[in-house]
Amino acid sequence: KKRAPVPDDIRAAKGGTPLVSLTAYTTPMAQLMDAHCDFVLVGDSVGMVLHGLPSTLGVTMEMMILHGQAVARGLTSAMMVTDLPFGSYEESPQQAFRNAARLMRETGAGAVKLEGGVGMADTIAFLVQRGIPVMAHIGLTPQSVNTLGGYRVQGRGAARDALMKDAKSVSNAGAFAVVLEKIPETLANDVTANIPIPTIGIGASAGCDGQILVLDDMLGLFTAFKAKFVKRYAHLGDDAEAAIAAYAAEVRAREFPGKEHVFADKAPEK
Ligand code: KIV
Ligand code: NA
Repeated sequence: KKRAPVPDDIRAAKGGTPLVSLTAYTTPMAQLMDAHCDFVLVGDSVGMVLHGLPSTLGVTMEMMILHGQAVARGLTSAMMVTDLPFGSYEESPQQAFRNAARLMRETGAGAVKLEGGVGMADTIAFLVQRGIPVMAHIGLTPQSVNTLGGYRVQGRGAARDALMKDAKSVSNAGAFAVVLEKIPETLANDVTANIPIPTIGIGASAGCDGQILVLDDMLGLFTAFKAKFVKRYAHLGDDAEAAIAAYAAEVRAREFPGKEHVFADKAPEK
């Protein structure tokens, strides 16, 4: 089996076959995507899609570690990246290093992701210089939902230059890739053409160097809302509910368990 990519392999994929990525939070789903993804993100979206939190702000280091450990057990050929949760890195480069090192030590992740552009460049450089590969995340950065005023498209009109500056500064700081979330397609293409590291799009452009989606969104498991950029490749939530309803009806009708699910008093003879 091919060895798992390392951050330098991801960086080297700039301009080539698009990088494929999904989020994962559990071992079985990590196993299913392992052979199909270049890297798997243990996203802080876990707070919303699995824990019912209203945003990603309530996600803790402990949650990221527990889910990171579960995902690591399911991966052999994809690289794992783990999100730094809100409040674990913004205060100082030192705080970021301490928490990023802990995440990598306790989960085995090969890299961390953090949100922010120009304002996080010093922190990215500090981490990279000390052995921590960093994936950046700019555009719509959900941990800043309270200062962004909602989950709006970013980088439109006058905000275009600032987004381009963010991209260049995280690249110059040493990030090995950058997630572009919810920005205009033309801007995503421009950014992709103007920085030397891969751009990973989500609500960005098919011209990005790679794509990522939240697993539960694309499987139709998370249905509280659907962003425009989400494509549902399956409707597992509907399938799960139908299965649960069928089970409930069979139990009430004494149709389950059936003959094949119950035990005779005597074990059958050999
Ligand atoms: O937490 C997450 O799932 C993410 C991706 C949407 C990039 O950060
Ligand atoms: Na995230």
